[in-house]
Amino acid sequence: MKIAVIGAGYVGLVSGACLAEFGFDVFCVDHDGKKVAELNAGRIPIHETGLDKLIHDNREAGRLHFTMDLKAAVAKADAVFIAVSTPTRRGDDAADLAYVHKAAADIAAALDGYSVIITKSTVPVGTARKLKAQIRGLRPDVEFDVAANPEFLREGSAIGDFLHPDRIVVGSESKRAQDVLRKIYQPITQSGAPLIFTDFESAELIKYAANGYLAMRLAFVNQLADLCEKVGGDITVVAQGIGHDQRIGHHYLHPGPGYGGSCFPKDTRALAATAREAGAPFSLIEAVVGANDKRKAGLFQRVAQVFGGTPAGKRIAILGLAFKAETDDLRDAPALELIPALTAASASVVAYDPVVSKNGAPAFAGIDWADSAYDAAAGADAVIVLTEWNEFRGLDLGKLAKSMRTPLMIDLRNLYSAGELAKTAFTYHSLGRQTMKPVTERSA
Ligand SMILES: NC(=O)c1ccc[n+]([C@@H]2O[C@H](COP(=O)([O-])OP(=O)(O)OC[C@H]3O[C@@H](n4cnc5c(N)ncnc54)[C@H](O)[C@@H]3O)[C@@H](O)[C@H]2O)c1
Repeated sequence: MKIAVIGAGYVGLVSGACLAEFGFDVFCVDHDGKKVAELNAGRIPIHETGLDKLIHDNREAGRLHFTMDLKAAVAKADAVFIAVSTPTRRGDDAADLAYVHKAAADIAAALDGYSVIITKSTVPVGTARKLKAQIRGLRPDVEFDVAANPEFLREGSAIGDFLHPDRIVVGSESKRAQDVLRKIYQPITQSGAPLIFTDFESAELIKYAANGYLAMRLAFVNQLADLCEKVGGDITVVAQGIGHDQRIGHHYLHPGPGYGGSCFPKDTRALAATAREAGAPFSLIEAVVGANDKRKAGLFQRVAQVFGGTPAGKRIAILGLAFKAETDDLRDAPALELIPALTAASASVVAYDPVVSKNGAPAFAGIDWADSAYDAAAGADAVIVLTEWNEFRGLDLGKLAKSMRTPLMIDLRNLYSAGELAKTAFTYHSLGRQTMKPVTERSA
């Protein structure tokens, strides 16, 4: 079976490599010539555990190809996945489908026989139907089907998520398309993953509903943490206490600096926009968007308060820049809001992230870079933990504190426990727990 994947980003690369691993002949197409050249030179443009090897092995086996030539990739393809970006549209909150429609037009021009065109990008309800009309309008002469097949992988565990999904969702209107998709996913379904066939609209809504619900849990636990800070109580214990309720569960109940990344921020906005447009306002999701924006915008104030109102003149070490651990993705990362606010307030910032590159974002212009968490902390007035990288969990906190000008930590991921901090000189501010004073003050 020949498969084309349009868009070689986080989703397209992982999907393409996994499909090649199943033995299909896969052509990943991207209009970014630099990216394609990098991939063809054996360099992987994103950080995703295991992806280098998967891509290398499948290229060696001759099953995985990277190209800018969409026409050749789509010719004779049994299936064409659209995995291009769907960012927030400039000027409003809806998803910008310009890349999707451009890809659909290019695919239409290249079709030379029956093929299933599959949206793997996250697209608003109604998109599959529109694409079907678009392609039919451009190519009344060819046989094709459209299917909506949202992707649920998470960056950082993307390969495992693709290969072992909780479910596969396919919206389609044709038995022939279902058969193609059934065959493509057979290596996954045979190990037990449910394959849900549904209509276009339900498939598209399932993706937004899942992301909207998870974002809502994060906004909920963040506000609960704020409440704990005001009235006493420890969010870690409170979250555990509710998470043990089997109707609730433990996932997505960890407070943080506000969700970021390439999905939750834009997908919650797009869901709210769709609901407004449809005349069924989703006030819960509107509130989640507002709460998360406020949380990220409030990070600077949270830090400034620790310094009695302003961090001016302080040297601040930031541990972690990516929006979450195990990825280099900076899209909508809290660091992009906090760091410019700190530098604008005349704080000097030094950052360390295990994988984010120095020229990762214009927001980082002018900051210093360290080669390790210890380097970053040396001589600093405060350490701020922004990303929950595992390597930060095992830091020698005593050593870290000793190297600092003032041993102050603002932990926006709640990585450390009272027990770990008990023998250190740290004054420790975290989320939804009471501030811990240094050991000398505690014993005084
Ligand atoms: N990143 C995730 O964790 C994730 C998870 C599930 C779903 N999604 C969804 O998948 C889609 C892609 O996300 P991503 O993170 O992979 O985006 P990305 O920005 O990393 O990659 C998109 C790629 O598409 C290419 N592209 C855009 N238009 C093109 C065209 N017309 N022809 C060829 N190439 C084109 C871009 O150059 C880019 O390399 C989005 O809709 C996103 O919401 C993302």
